[in-house]
Amino acid sequence: MNKKYRKTIIAGNWKMNLVPSEVKAFADELRAFLPKARTCEVALLVPYTHISTLRRALKDNRIGFGAQDVSARDKGAYTGEVSADMLSDMNAHYVIVGHSECRQYHGDTDFTVGEKAAAVLGKGMCPIICVGESLEQRERGLTMAYTTYQVLAALSYIPEGKERQIVIAYEPIWAIGTGRTASPEEAGEVCAGIRAVLRAKRGARAARSVSILYGGSMNPGNAKTLLSMPDIDGGLIGGASLKPRDFSQIVDAVALAAQEA
Ligand code: 13P
Repeated sequence: MNKKYRKTIIAGNWKMNLVPSEVKAFADELRAFLPKARTCEVALLVPYTHISTLRRALKDNRIGFGAQDVSARDKGAYTGEVSADMLSDMNAHYVIVGHSECRQYHGDTDFTVGEKAAAVLGKGMCPIICVGESLEQRERGLTMAYTTYQVLAALSYIPEGKERQIVIAYEPIWAIGTGRTASPEEAGEVCAGIRAVLRAKRGARAARSVSILYGGSMNPGNAKTLLSMPDIDGGLIGGASLKPRDFSQIVDAVALAAQEA
C-alpha cells in the first residue's frame, strides 16, 4: 500500500451467489462486524439484481457498490446485456471488467475488456480491470509478459489523463477459488511490474496514482502480509467476501498492515 499517492480498496466480488432475499441478513451481519473507523474504501460488486437491495440495506455505511461485468455497447438490440448507462443510473461506482471467469465463459478478449473499461469510464464510473496468468503461463515463465500485454491492451482504450480513474486487479487464475494464494513476494512482484508498465506508458505521476489490487484466495489469514507489499493497494475478494466476519477482518488487516509499514 502507499496511502500517500493512492487509495486502498477492499472490494468483494460476490460472483453468482446469494439471492436477493438473503441480502438483508448479509447486510445486517456485515454492519455488525465492519470496523467503524476505516482506513480504506470498501466496495461490494454484486449481481445486477442485488445492487439496489444491497445499497438500501447498507445506506449510510460508506460502502461503494458496483457490478461484475458490463456491456461494451451503449444501448439497443443486445438481449441479455446491461449497459454502463444503466449501472451509472443505479449509482454504481465500480465495475469489474475482464475477470478471468468472464474471459473464460463469456469469451471476453483483451479488446472487449478495453472497450468495456472505456464504456465504464465514459459514464463516470471506475473500471476494475482484471489481469492475470494461468498456471501453465506461470510455470513457463510467461507471467510478466502475459500480464504486461493484458495491461497494455486495456490501457490502449484508456484516454490519456484518465489513469487516475481506473483500478487494476492482478488475479492469477491458478489462485482463484483454489485456496492457493500467490505469496506476498510473488504477488508484489507482479503488481510492481504492472506499475512499471503504467509508468513506461503514462509517466510516473499517473503510475503512482493507480490502485492495484490483488485477488485470489485472499482471506483473513493472509491479507495483512499481502497488503504490506508496497504495490498491493487492496484486495478483490471472492469467497471470503460472502462471509461478513471474514470480509470485515480483511478490512481490519488494512489498518494492521499500515501500522507495520
Ligand atoms: P477467491 O477469493 O474466491 O479466490 O476469488 C477471487 C476473485 O476471483 C475475485 O474476483
